[in-house]
Amino acid sequence: MADAFRDKILAGKVAYVAGGSSGINLGIAQRLAEQGARLAIVSRSQDKIDAAVKSITDAGGTAFGVSADVRDYAAVEASLKATHERFGDIDVLVSGAAGNFLAPVVGMSANAFKTVVDIDLIGTFNVLRASFDFLKKPGASLISITAGQGSHPMMFQAHACAAKAGINMLTRCLAMEWGPAGIRVNAISPGPIAETEGMARLAATPAMEAALKARIPLRDYGAKRDIADMALYLASDNAVYITGAIMDVDGGSSLGDASADALTARR
Ligand code: HXC
Ligand code: NAP
Repeated sequence: MADAFRDKILAGKVAYVAGGSSGINLGIAQRLAEQGARLAIVSRSQDKIDAAVKSITDAGGTAFGVSADVRDYAAVEASLKATHERFGDIDVLVSGAAGNFLAPVVGMSANAFKTVVDIDLIGTFNVLRASFDFLKKPGASLISITAGQGSHPMMFQAHACAAKAGINMLTRCLAMEWGPAGIRVNAISPGPIAETEGMARLAATPAMEAALKARIPLRDYGAKRDIADMALYLASDNAVYITGAIMDVDGGSSLGDASADALTARR
């Protein structure tokens, strides 16, 4: 890890990660902290936040936590204000809080559908909208976490598909509205990522996991580090001319079902 700490490309920067207490978003937070950013970790569970903050400070980074439910605009705004008071203008903002479960539409109450849309889409609106007054302008990089389901329909995922599709469009609209202020607005679309709550819920058995991997062009799940590296890139000055983009980091998953073996299927 010595090399990773040599050139800290986010030295002096401030990062806020909504949903940063576990999984992919914690991986992003840890990567940004490793590269010198001072971190605010925001989610609901104080225990998860405390553990996430400890993982960063134990590694030599700087972080603090705030408990907020992204469905609560006032709580989100208060967490952003606390971050601003502690560290100053926010350079990098990640909106990654999400909820998900597999359910057919007929097995989904109106509240079940609304719950996922509220967390994923309305929560992302709340985080992005409330951040405006606390951002570094010009210069801020906003990154939402979407999914392939935002572009491609999937059975038993109507709530998440609708919510993530909304995030994709919100990303593009805000990129247009906030570009003139020097704010970049992008999203990362992860494919299936190993050792996450998301995949534990969506492909719960070894058979489901194997069947899914067989359809992915690169034939494997990604790692949290793959998403963290894309977030680091979007946060960095190397990406200053990128806005309104949905960055697929998915082993080719979004291209479609690649289960046929073309190299051995010669006639
Ligand atoms: C049908 C369900 C259900 C299920 C909950 N509900 N689970 N309906 N099948 N398996 C219904 C409940 O019955 C209730 O409706 C409504 O959803 C709200 O449930 P609550 O438990 O009251 O909600 P809440 O406490 O707010 O919890 C939200 C949650 C929970 C989404 C249900 O699982 C959660 O907190 N998840 C966060 C962690 C997570 O999901 N991580 C994975 C993200 S990964 P009624 O009508 O009974 O009131 C991800 C994958 C990415 O997003 C790829 C795809 C996009
Ligand atoms: P995860 O570990 O469950 O992460 C979800 C995070 O959001 C947690 O920190 C959770 O913490 C927080 N959260 C949930 N509801 C919240 C709320 N209402 N308010 C505030 N915070 C809330 O899941 P993950 O699998 O790593 O997924 C992370 C992101 O990647 C999500 O946006 C997901 O849709 C996306 N994604 C994942 C995959 C995958 O393969 N896993 C694929 C594509 C996209 P608390 O419980 O403390 O609130």
